[in-house]
Order: sequence, then structure tokens, then C-alpha cells
Amino acid sequence: MRRRIVAGNWKMNKQFAEADDLINGISEQLREFDTTDVDVIVCPPYPFLELVSDVAEDAEFFVGAQNVAHFDDGAYTGEVSASMLKSLGVDYCIVGHSERRKYFCETNEQIAEKINRLLQQDITPIICVGESLEEREAGKHFDVIKQQVTEGIFHLKADDMQRCIIAYEPVWAIGTGKTATKEQAQEIHAFIRNLITEHYNDDVAQEVSILYGGSCNPKNAKDLFAMQDVDGGLIGGASLKAKDFIEIACSFE
Ligand code: PGA
Repeated sequence: MRRRIVAGNWKMNKQFAEADDLINGISEQLREFDTTDVDVIVCPPYPFLELVSDVAEDAEFFVGAQNVAHFDDGAYTGEVSASMLKSLGVDYCIVGHSERRKYFCETNEQIAEKINRLLQQDITPIICVGESLEEREAGKHFDVIKQQVTEGIFHLKADDMQRCIIAYEPVWAIGTGKTATKEQAQEIHAFIRNLITEHYNDDVAQEVSILYGGSCNPKNAKDLFAMQDVDGGLIGGASLKAKDFIEIACSFE
């Protein structure tokens, strides 16, 4: 069954002491509020994974990474493998974020490799897809998303597909304060779920949680999460404040 999920993507923010404060703040907030039916995931930068993982041992959240190498362990200077993440207690990993596609030229083929390596280590991929403003204005958003999903994910067998999370993140909404309307989000989420139904079947499609990401905040989360095919959010800026992040995690009806 689809899970309700709120994942925080800290991106390349915070120094060690600040990260320590933030994760302890999140842990305290989680003790105050009831998030029993929600999987809360925190994705800090690599150097803070161990810190966050240690706090997670006594708290109600899971640890995620923001990226992983598309190679197995070996001579790949500067990279971090899926098995290393696993050894740090990481259970989730963001893959194919638009910032990685844009600044690091990540391709759908590499994203497919990353997903394979994560699943081999029993780490759940949170796979990001989404169109740019130009693509939306040109009416190409459905095609772009179909291509990202087909080339990046649909090589998986049905069993593995069911283990993945998808995040719809319109690039024009990320860090811009310009959120997709709840209707725009629902339209694309339903489109993605329908693609899964067509390629696999409805049972598989009903297992995959689809998150919305892009300027999601405590004010708009409730409306977005109330939509039929929106199973939660991938939160950037608002995940850097413990109170806002947990308020978002409490935004399900
Ligand atoms: P934002 O980022 O919430 O700051 O828009 C979301 C994301 O990029 O995952």
C-alpha cells in the first residue's frame, strides 16, 4: 500500500554544528507531534549522514542520502557507493534530482544504474522527475516526464518498481516560492501513476508513493497532500527549519 511520506532534502546547506542542532530539533519536534502514519525521512549532505544516523537510532525518522555513485566500489575518486551508504544506516536515497541533472549532467541511463545499485543494497530510491518552465510553456511536460520515467525506471521488474518512491518536482517550482497548484500536481501524479499501470499493472501502481516537491511549505502542504495521487512531499528549503518540516509532516488529513 502507498505510504505517506515526507522527506527533507537539506541540499548543500549547514555546517556540522548547525546540522547537529537541526537534527536534534527535528527529533524533539517528532516527540511532540503525532506522525505515526507518516514516514519522515531526513536527507543531509554526505558528511552529516553518520551524525543523523546516530540520532535516528532513538527517533522516529529514517535517514536518506541525496545521491549515490552509478558504479560499484572501486577507483572512482570523490564518489560514494550504495554499499557505503548502507553501512551508515541509510535506508533511502534521492536519485535524479533536477539539480543533479542540470549541474552534473546526469542522464536517465545513469539514474537507472543508480537505482539498480540502491535496490541491490536494499536502499529505497526516491526518484525525481519534472519539467522545466520552457518545457511546460511549450506543452511538453507530459512527454518529458514520460521519457524520464520510461528511460530511468521502467527497466525494473514489477517487484523492484514497487520498492521505489517517485517525486514529481517541476523545476520551475524548486526554490522559487512558486508552487504548482494542487490541480497541476494531481494531474501529473495521476499521469505518472497511469504510466505505471500501463507498463506494469494497477496493483504495482497502487504500491508506489508519489511525492510532490517544489516550494512546498507549512501553508500549502495540506492542500497538496489532500489530492488523491499526492502521497506526500520532498521538501527543500522548508526542511531546514525543524518546526516547519514537522508541521509539513503533520499536514495529512
Ligand atoms: P524546495 O526544494 O522545497 O526548496 O523548492 C525541493 C527540492 O528540490 O527537493
